Amino acid sequence: MAQSRVAKVYAGNQENNLTEWEFLALNSELNIADGHARQELTPGQSKIIDELPLLFGEGERRRVEEIERECHRAYLQLLGQHSYPSTPGRVLSCYSSSVAMEILSRALATRMDSVALLHPTFDNIADLLRGNSLRLLPIAEDPLHGGDLDDELLRSVGCVFITTPNNPTGKVVPEERLRRLAEQCAEHDVILALDTSFRGFDTRAHYDHYAVLQSVGCRWAVIEDTGKLWPTLDLKLGMLVFSEDIGLPVSKIYSDILLGVSPMILVLARRFAEDAANGGLDELHRFIGGNRELVRAQLADLPGLTFPDADSKVSVERVHLGDRPGTEVWAALRESNVYALPCRAFHWDKPNEGSNMLRIALARSSEPLARSVQTLRLVLERF
Ligand SMILES: Cc1ncc(COP(=O)(O)O)c(C=O)c1O
Repeated sequence: MAQSRVAKVYAGNQENNLTEWEFLALNSELNIADGHARQELTPGQSKIIDELPLLFGEGERRRVEEIERECHRAYLQLLGQHSYPSTPGRVLSCYSSSVAMEILSRALATRMDSVALLHPTFDNIADLLRGNSLRLLPIAEDPLHGGDLDDELLRSVGCVFITTPNNPTGKVVPEERLRRLAEQCAEHDVILALDTSFRGFDTRAHYDHYAVLQSVGCRWAVIEDTGKLWPTLDLKLGMLVFSEDIGLPVSKIYSDILLGVSPMILVLARRFAEDAANGGLDELHRFIGGNRELVRAQLADLPGLTFPDADSKVSVERVHLGDRPGTEVWAALRESNVYALPCRAFHWDKPNEGSNMLRIALARSSEPLARSVQTLRLVLERF
């Protein structure tokens, strides 16, 4: 069954979406493709996993409302989001951030037909918006960070959607830039939507976004995600948070899709957030930083090769391959059972801009990561 999906997905298809490429890597020990956390548990995290039956018991015994509130508080306060709206119903727990994205997309589609979206960014955001018949207008990263958005663009859309920190570039929208974006969205009565799934990796994204959004008073939505940080075998939740005046049927559409997330997962996420607050987050930052150095050191002197995201702190690293095509390097790597991620699909509007890049996952144990990157080096020397 899985084999036939592999055959169908691959077939040398450079138009695969990112998840299709990631699927091909799932059974390899040398999977440096997807952005999920797959490194070994730390001793503190192992202790939590050893207590899984107790967490299950807690999930059975206690009121869901309380468990959910504690989980949201532990996670959002860990990452500096002290002003998130904590009144009931304003943080919707979802099975994953993609489910939160689907709910938001469906809600947006009830009131508008166009959305401005960051380019490049993770392609399932574009796919879910388009899947709900929304027309997309790209916002490139340089203009986004460089100054005000074009008034013409803002007049032609109902929502501006930004991923911060961005996947794959790691770029963060700083506080003053977010404030100005929110002001412009308020002036044009446009919803400002953020995907902050990768914020845990970068303290520059730990300023209180909710304080900024609420003080400016634009209509807004934020998608948060516990899923990228900790190696919990995809036991995770996404959260869809939104302004009181968003003017979209978000709660109704949420209830069309789900009742809620398992209380055991809510307890687990809370416990991992507590462990992170007690030093685990700093440890994770050091670990990802070390893996980034390892990748750069092993590849740095190869001719034509560069690392475009010099300041990135997120758990992925792009490598620009010079004039080597990403999908060809991918195919050569695959012969050694190493799977990286070609970057064309991040450029959902202009795939050619990503043709000569690969993305490498850093949330991996250092030994298999080092072996994968050594193989990548050997492959690149041949090109
Ligand atoms: C920025 C961003 N948002 C959302 C998602 C989707 O996450 P999930 O697969 O857990 O739904 C991803 C996945 O990599 C992502 O990079």
